[in-house]
Amino acid sequence: MIYIQNAAQLATLGGAGNKPKTGKEMEELGLIEHGGIVIEDGIFTFVGSDEKARSYVEQHAGNRQVRVFSAEGKTVTPGLVDPHTHAVFAGSREFELNLRLQGAKYMDILNAGGGILYSTECTREATEEQLVAETVKRLDRFLAHGVTTIEAKSGYGLRLEDELKQLRAARRLDASHPVDVVSTFMGAHAVPVEYRGDADGYVRCVIEEMIPAVAREGLAEFCDVFCEEGVFTVEQSRDILEAGRSWGLKPKLHADEIVSCGGAELAAELGAVTADHLLHASEAGIQAMAESGVIAVLLPGTAFFLMAKPADARAMINAGVPVALSTDRNPGSSPTESLPFIMNLACLTMGMTPAEVLTACTINAAHAICRADVIGSIEVGKQADLVMFDAPNVLYLQYHYAVNLVDTVFKKGEAVIQ
Ligand code: NIG
Ligand code: FE
Repeated sequence: MIYIQNAAQLATLGGAGNKPKTGKEMEELGLIEHGGIVIEDGIFTFVGSDEKARSYVEQHAGNRQVRVFSAEGKTVTPGLVDPHTHAVFAGSREFELNLRLQGAKYMDILNAGGGILYSTECTREATEEQLVAETVKRLDRFLAHGVTTIEAKSGYGLRLEDELKQLRAARRLDASHPVDVVSTFMGAHAVPVEYRGDADGYVRCVIEEMIPAVAREGLAEFCDVFCEEGVFTVEQSRDILEAGRSWGLKPKLHADEIVSCGGAELAAELGAVTADHLLHASEAGIQAMAESGVIAVLLPGTAFFLMAKPADARAMINAGVPVALSTDRNPGSSPTESLPFIMNLACLTMGMTPAEVLTACTINAAHAICRADVIGSIEVGKQADLVMFDAPNVLYLQYHYAVNLVDTVFKKGEAVIQ
């Protein structure tokens, strides 16, 4: 039995039912001052005031050993959830920074055979073991920043065997690392060089060869497409996501990242689980997302790193779109594992409140990967993933910015960082 004692503030994020939080609900953190938590067999079995937690322990411990962790002066939150990463890849692209500082655009670099295509070359050359070894370091850094679950996309293989290799690496990491890894197939991340000028041919390959192979091996739960001018059109994206759905892969979409091209509208039409990026989502697209319950996964770190104007989070929250946040961890547009820094950016560059960002990185992020029944809040019966921050209250997390305030991390009831 584990007893987390006397947290200065305990943000449970509980009580939301089985829907992501929207509008004003995003401000409701289920805060308990002087909170206590009990964990048994990796599950939360008591959450409430410290006084009641103490008597729960006295009544239920019997002759079991009780390990006490003092949270005196600390803020406790659910383990952070990152619902959008491209964390499994080989190589890195730091040389692109100078190009971009001299004015090269992200899409120009991609069109010149760099960007995603460069990372694809490196990833194709790597073995599955090498991918696992490179990604372990990233998962370690995620965990050190309080992230206990991530989603990870393929999309640097861009041909069958290498897409499978990426997804198999993700599956091995999920099984062997404390951070849980939820997989998304994103063969439609770019048109590979062998199909240059024949995007339709590549789309056919994704639909006819890759999706069935990924689904047969049970390697992914979601399917994602980079729907963008010059990459995949709305029609191609629709075809891919519908094919994915027919094989049991739930749709997600990189939508309206660089230009407004109907991505948000498509996500709404398909009833996608999420639409991500949305820097240039139209008003009608946002409205349509609200109506069909699509979660917006916003990535202010990517806007920051590409020196672009971030998404209009306030318009989305006001329209009733549930918002989640993510690092977008990838080698080109967002090389960071610091979800807490992304939370800082969400406040400071998108005007989200500290309470909204915490909701967006916990319970709403859990909904964005269809895991809200097990993670995303500190509630009796849920998996005991939590973070203890060296911060007196939740506001402080967004005030003392760009440093790592993580003190202790529990994953499935085990103290994995302390
Ligand atoms: O979400 N936009 C497409 N994909 C990634 C970037 C991938 C890369 O540059 O390697 C993104 O920003
Ligand atoms: Fe992405």
